[in-house]
Amino acid sequence: MDYLTVAMAKGRTADRAMDFLEKSDVRFSDFTDESRKLVIYDDKQTIKLIFVKAVDVPVYVENGAADVGIVGKDVMMEDPRDVYELLDLGIGRCKLAVAGFPGTPVDEMPFLTVASKYPAVAKEYFDKKGIRTEMIKLNGSIELAPLIGMSDVIVDIVETGTTLKENGLVVLQEIAEVSARLIVNKASYATKTADIQQFIKDMKEGLEVRA
Ligand code: PRP
Repeated sequence: MDYLTVAMAKGRTADRAMDFLEKSDVRFSDFTDESRKLVIYDDKQTIKLIFVKAVDVPVYVENGAADVGIVGKDVMMEDPRDVYELLDLGIGRCKLAVAGFPGTPVDEMPFLTVASKYPAVAKEYFDKKGIRTEMIKLNGSIELAPLIGMSDVIVDIVETGTTLKENGLVVLQEIAEVSARLIVNKASYATKTADIQQFIKDMKEGLEVRA
């Protein structure tokens, strides 16, 4: 059977994407939130969903292990891949921002230490402003870095703002709006055009039902 392989990370975005598909009658009846399965199939046996880490979604899609991926724009900005980005799903909306202690004079500082999961995005942002930086790449709990004096500021995702608030930090500058994108392997788009277009149509219908 020639499935359309779709890569996404488990969690809120995957739940929403599966909700969209259900609206178009594409169901994954075997899947439950507690399931630890990494590969599931839809009831009609046309889609194979693989669950991977969010940062790895574009890797699977670029090398053809997955035909389609659903991933945050933040991941694509940090690690651009040679794939088609065909649809903004409008889910998982948040901001990429510079954050730190209130009043931190970011633009007046000739040199900044920056902690981030997104060092490439952060470096490009500050380079354009002519601010020299030292990047400290972290993989989580980014807000801790300024609190313990490891960095002047952070560059991170802000969704509700709760994590910043509870740690006495604020957004100092906004870098970009972020949301989940549908990406497609270039060769797959040529060889599985109809299947991919159907998948996009199903997702879009879900989006419209929601709107
Ligand atoms: C993300 C992000 C912030 C937080 C923002 O972390 O890195 O820490 O969510 O969300 P909020 O504005 O709604 O508080 P995540 O939950 O992925 O955990 P992490 O610290 O392990 O990266």
